[in-house]
Amino acid sequence: MKTVELLAIIISLSSAFFFSNAANTNQPPNQVTSQPIQQPATDGDFEPVDNMHHFMEYICEPSYKGLKQVLATEPADRKAWKAFKNHALVLAESSALVAARGPEDEAKNKQWKAISADVYQSGKSLYKSAGNYSEAKKHYGTMLDACNRCHTVFAKGKYQLSK
Ligand code: HEC
Repeated sequence: MKTVELLAIIISLSSAFFFSNAANTNQPPNQVTSQPIQQPATDGDFEPVDNMHHFMEYICEPSYKGLKQVLATEPADRKAWKAFKNHALVLAESSALVAARGPEDEAKNKQWKAISADVYQSGKSLYKSAGNYSEAKKHYGTMLDACNRCHTVFAKGKYQLSK
């Protein structure tokens, strides 16, 4: 068969396919994309997915280790500072979630929130210090002091993280 003939067959087949689809207009529209939101979501829809141990293990620990590594020597390029910002932002923003998941006891809850706020403040300053090694080291140290303070009070002194 000549190439031209083959092309003609392909074109006629594909146009037949196209028109058969286009003719299908009496089908209902795609339900997935046009689905309305059924009910407004509330705070109750955002219950913790897992316990505090796993929160620390899978959210805080990898970012702590990543930060420690990236700050071991002065970050050399944009890529290294991007990794820094990744970890710093995870720890700063997740401190708000930690804050909201304290113990029931009112006095303990107050203390839990206060320490979480220290992590938030130092974590925020840490994130904003991207590009400035000495500032980053300073805020990293302050943040880890706050992490460790909570571990002293609420984890029986276990998990003292080194800088
Ligand atoms: C408000 C309290 C609080 C703050 C703030 C806090 N932690 Fe924790 N963290 C805990 C508690 C409680 C545990 C022990 C959880 C358990 O085993 O039940 C823990 C455990 C850990 C562990 C051990 C996890 C494991 O798998 O062994 C790591 C790592 C950790 N935290 C990292 C951090 C880092 C990094 C920060 C600061 C950026 C931080 N935490 C801030 C309360 C806190």
